[in-house]
Amino acid sequence: MTTKIIGTGSYLPEHVVSNDDLAKLVDTSDEWIASRTGIRNRRIATKESGADMAAAAAEEALKDAGMDGSEIDLILVATCSSDFQFPSTACLVQKAIHATNAAAFDLSAACSGFLFALHTAHAYICAGIYKNILLVGVEVLSKLIDWNDRSTCVLFGDGASACVVERGEGLYSADHGMEGFVQWSDGVSGEVLTCPGRKIENPWKENDSETEYIQMNGQEVFRFAVKKVPECIRQVTEKTETQIETIDWFILHQANSRIIQSVAKRLGVPEEKFPMNMEQYGNTSAASIPILLDEMNKKGMLQPGQKIILSGFGAGLTWGAAQIEW
Ligand code: COA
Repeated sequence: MTTKIIGTGSYLPEHVVSNDDLAKLVDTSDEWIASRTGIRNRRIATKESGADMAAAAAEEALKDAGMDGSEIDLILVATCSSDFQFPSTACLVQKAIHATNAAAFDLSAACSGFLFALHTAHAYICAGIYKNILLVGVEVLSKLIDWNDRSTCVLFGDGASACVVERGEGLYSADHGMEGFVQWSDGVSGEVLTCPGRKIENPWKENDSETEYIQMNGQEVFRFAVKKVPECIRQVTEKTETQIETIDWFILHQANSRIIQSVAKRLGVPEEKFPMNMEQYGNTSAASIPILLDEMNKKGMLQPGQKIILSGFGAGLTWGAAQIEW
């Protein structure tokens, strides 16, 4: 048996913030941001909660799959910016979509979150535990950003996207669905991209932590991504005994167009096979891969039988790749 994606949906906040808008807040320019990252606009949540966005994306994915919330066995939400410490965003989504027969929990792997959630769903499905799983990637990173820090505030955006996956037949076979995956973490190098949680505020506390916002060593993150992403894409295609030239689409985490161009070059694959949408949405972390997948699905760019690599990378450090047949 394997895991098939049978429905996709997204929700992006209405409010658009352009590079020129940011140039009014910090010392930056459209030219600097666009030339280094490929980003021109991002959506920022002004009234929507993460759970609102996740539920809207989930409703759309369920509709696309022709399913009802009550048919879902498990809800997995990938997020690093949840509305509450608890309940989980997954439980809030469960309530909103009336998925009364589901278990629900969140999973945190930063920008690799959706990919890790897909792998987790696949493991549950292959173990015969669940049949229909709702996966959501959602972020409200705008609340974790220091809007005075030009080195990070220009990069990120808010959004949500969801997929319904179901059990299909054939294990790593020619059947449509998941053909193979790899996932990795390197906690030792995690300090290059961090965001602290709540401070210890008990009467016995010994230290004060310094910042509550995202902090990043951009150059180190860049180096990590351009090395590890091609490496894990090669690993997954070796595992599935697939020639890289036969892959139709490479749907990568939308952090930076220069990272994606470098990955394409290192793999010797034409850039046209690497669709990008960070120009409109910026880096939406766990939501970025499914937002792009949903956009391509809606545009009719995904044809049955096409081979697709999904690859994510981010804080942790975490990274990985999945090969699916659409
Ligand atoms: N606007 C204008 N200037 C800026 C700026 C901004 N938004 N942000 C930084 N700068 C300045 C720096 O202060 C520095 O100035 P200095 O030379 O006077 O000190 C200069 O630009 C170069 O900074 P640097 O950090 O070396 O730029 P860079 O070419 O490495 O680009 C990133 C910075 C963040 C765009 C790049 O490192 C990157 O994309 N890294 C990956 C980040 C990422 O994708 N993270 C998420 C992964 S999930």
